Amino acid sequence: MAPPHEGAIAWIAAASPAPKQQTMLDRLLNERYSCRSFDPSRAVAPHLLELTLESATLAPSACNLQPYHFEVVTGATMTAVAALRNFYGARALIIGTFDAHNTGYVSAQGQEFRLFDLGLALMAAALKATELGLASCFIGSLPIKELKAELKLSSEPVIALALGYAAPDAAPSDNHFKRRRGSELYTLHE
Ligand SMILES: Cc1cc2nc3c(=O)[nH]c(=O)nc-3n(C[C@H](O)[C@H](O)[C@H](O)COP(=O)(O)O)c2cc1C
Repeated sequence: MAPPHEGAIAWIAAASPAPKQQTMLDRLLNERYSCRSFDPSRAVAPHLLELTLESATLAPSACNLQPYHFEVVTGATMTAVAALRNFYGARALIIGTFDAHNTGYVSAQGQEFRLFDLGLALMAAALKATELGLASCFIGSLPIKELKAELKLSSEPVIALALGYAAPDAAPSDNHFKRRRGSELYTLHE
């Protein structure tokens, strides 16, 4: 696990009187990475999926509309779905779709917030999965048509969170360590 960036430590120390050590949230954020090598022999117990989904329900959403629905794939269905795309040996998927009857909040200027809402919910799920000892990977490049047919879905899959246990050779990619910081990340308006 990479130590947090020196700048981040300094910022945390300055912003809070808390002890200069990693908080639980820092630890989870640092531990999560996109796992692209899951242990195919280790299934994800149903109660771990339930706890992960429960965390997704705690995420905020614009006007609290929660405009998403999750398709949870495990077992024999996961084997069938894994034939459609390489899910890196993951044993479960939480697929985010949009609720056909709920467009989510659309502002007066026409700005749609449902993608944002879905992302927040699935990030909460990813962090919970990390806490439960699971590895995860967001997968946006989905075989949409084939998945829809295989799972008999009425709405389009938007993004999947692949879940499982990391294989012994799993490691974060170089991209995991490339983080925008400082003026590249933010502009301060005082
Ligand atoms: C919306 C979204 C879509 C993504 N789609 C894919 C994908 O299709 N395949 C993949 O291997 N990783 C995918 N990723 C993972 C990103 O490549 C990864 O988060 C990024 O490189 C940073 O690495 P890290 O997650 O290990 O910190 C996706 C991530 C997000 C947030």
